[in-house]
Amino acid sequence: NCPGSLIVVSNRQPYRHEYDESDDERSVSVDEPTGGLTAGLDPVCQRTNGTWIAWGDGDADFDVADDRHCVSVPPSSGAYTLRRLDLSEDAVDSYYRGFSNRVLWPLCHGFTDLLEERPNDFEWYRSVNDQFATAVADHADDDSVVWIQDYHFALAPRTIRDSIPSSAAVAQFWHIPWPTPETFRDCPAAVGILEGLLGNDLLGFHVDRYAKNFLECVERALPSATVDRDRHTVRYDGEATTVVATPMGVDAKRYDRNARSADPSRLSSVFSTNGVSSETVLGLGVDRLDYTKGIPERLAALERFFERNPRWRGSFTFVQKATPSRTEIPAYQRYGEFVRDEVERINRRFATEDWRPIVYTDSYLETETLAALYRRAEVMIVSPLVDGMNLVAQEYVASSSDADGTLLLSDRTGAHERLGSHAFTIDPTDVDGFARRIDDALSTPRHERRRRMSALRNRVFDRDIGWWMATQFDWIRRVHDDRQHEG
Ligand code: G6P
Repeated sequence: NCPGSLIVVSNRQPYRHEYDESDDERSVSVDEPTGGLTAGLDPVCQRTNGTWIAWGDGDADFDVADDRHCVSVPPSSGAYTLRRLDLSEDAVDSYYRGFSNRVLWPLCHGFTDLLEERPNDFEWYRSVNDQFATAVADHADDDSVVWIQDYHFALAPRTIRDSIPSSAAVAQFWHIPWPTPETFRDCPAAVGILEGLLGNDLLGFHVDRYAKNFLECVERALPSATVDRDRHTVRYDGEATTVVATPMGVDAKRYDRNARSADPSRLSSVFSTNGVSSETVLGLGVDRLDYTKGIPERLAALERFFERNPRWRGSFTFVQKATPSRTEIPAYQRYGEFVRDEVERINRRFATEDWRPIVYTDSYLETETLAALYRRAEVMIVSPLVDGMNLVAQEYVASSSDADGTLLLSDRTGAHERLGSHAFTIDPTDVDGFARRIDDALSTPRHERRRRMSALRNRVFDRDIGWWMATQFDWIRRVHDDRQHEG
């Protein structure tokens, strides 16, 4: 389904080689892809004998690779080439922990108060983008399709465009929101970022609103650009960029399969000491510990809910699975501490001898355990303050194989545009309304829960990761055909 020879560019790599420290022989183990995107793109690379270029962050990565830092993956078949970039500690600190996650991430999510500009971060961002572009040029030929992922590479597309054959196509998917022009004004190097992105033949967003924001930013910051809204294109500097919205889905069948085969006894590791029994009604939150995810707002709503509904004390428990993320960045450290303190405070307030309102874990959970948890939870709460898409909401729906669960979903997520009409919509900042929605969800009769969940499942299965990739590749085929004819 990919029209040419595929070159994927992403910050995170699909396979990471690590030394096993507990083993004196220092044997090497391989982390396999689990994330939605890598799990979707990996089979395409395998089928098409493609190339994947990413930051090599595993401690054994370069010892197992050849002189060009290439390794054949997956280890079992060696079907495609993974080219790793060896980034210095300074580069990682400035490009990844700096401009990507202290500037672009907060800016695109509208958290401008957390924007932190440090000297050199942008220059390193440019330099790492150039290193990726050079690596792409090493592998590109006349028929290549370069597919760049996410906000770590706003500058690379233009450099890539200028250094690969003109018949090859360059596409990018921006997985996070694109802000309004009023917010984007605060972006350091705004013009350079837009010019970089307009090096793409195709630029994808999850929802129309982000595509529209992007076009407005282009109109305001680049007066010589011509935006054609009907044809979804921008013409700038003699080249055209098609800008489209395609909401990403999950591998629904796999989540469904995993949930059906999940062994509920796996949950004892999470529950044993927490007073959760088979009778307990379970709520669930699964998030990276990120200030966009609305975890404190969720905890405040739960606190209000227990205050107002004493009958649920002792019989309803909320499990929050959090994954620590970007922990070297102070805003993330503060957020993590705040969330843990809040959980403790609320537990002190309501806990009894044999029950706790909130079970918090930031330990790693195996896929099977998470599948069992998704299937077991009666209520899933997804309450981000801003989220480009949110795949967790879709993972939960796909895992609700008994069609019995309920989804509470923030109206500020990309996922809400697809699932909003059958989920319980919440405004994460309205504590009272949010608390009432938790009560509504728990009090909904079974037939109504099943009706809503069946409708949600239809949407998630119809528009799964396969649909998303096929749609993106259709667009890529169009721009690739244009390039081939022009070239
Ligand atoms: C978001 C981004 C991804 C990123 C992921 C995890 O979903 O869109 O590009 O990989 O967060 O963040 P991390 O910084 O750990 O890669």
